[in-house]
Amino acid sequence: MLLGVNIDHVATLRNARGGVEPNIIKAAEISEQNGATSITTHLREDRRHIKDEDVRTLITTIKTKLNLEMAMADDIQKIALEIKPHSICLVPEKRQEITTEGGLDVAGQREKVKTFIKPLLDAGIIVSLFIDPTEEQVIASSKTGAQFIEMHTGTYSETYGTNKEEQEFQNLKSAAILAQKLGLKVNAGHGLNYKNVHRMHEIPDLYELNIGHSIISKAVFTGLADAVKEMANLIK
Ligand code: PXP
Repeated sequence: MLLGVNIDHVATLRNARGGVEPNIIKAAEISEQNGATSITTHLREDRRHIKDEDVRTLITTIKTKLNLEMAMADDIQKIALEIKPHSICLVPEKRQEITTEGGLDVAGQREKVKTFIKPLLDAGIIVSLFIDPTEEQVIASSKTGAQFIEMHTGTYSETYGTNKEEQEFQNLKSAAILAQKLGLKVNAGHGLNYKNVHRMHEIPDLYELNIGHSIISKAVFTGLADAVKEMANLIK
């Protein structure tokens, strides 16, 4: 499995003072030097952490791959088509949420998703859909033209260590197997941390995990290099 490090919360800290520290370009560089195989950022509609100029700079400095998380918004699509990240991950977005809550409802708006991602696919950008691990969402995703899904691991992470964990884990495993049968590649992310990430090894052929909050939180105490290195070791 590969490790995509989400550096959004380095920008959250930077924005708390409005300056340039901590520098997100440096955060991407340290992550790459210590095991990240891609750098993930979410350009939110409210620009609460990552800003337009961040993605424009990152695309020129990153040595691995830029994975841009984005909502189905025309202005963000325009930026994606301009900077051409390696991949985009389509996520649902609500302004008041603290973080992405739940997956994108692809089943409920399949044609809209298909139409929205077409120009991105035509531009050679890999498209991933961030969905809940259900049969309905996986089947709908396989009919959009997207090459990847990213399974939302938030519920698994929240229930880890409780009597609900097994069911949530099995949902992820079944969704991944179905997606692969339908020709999709499978990533996973949200809420994964140093304790719960080990079960991702039980899911066959997961491609990449996108992990942010737990790595940046650990980095406050250990430094980013060690935090990324430790996670990279756990998932390789
Ligand atoms: N994947 C997606 C699609 C996300 O929206 C997020 C959160 O921005 C993550 C992964 C990373 O989640 P976390 O910060 O909980 O590791």
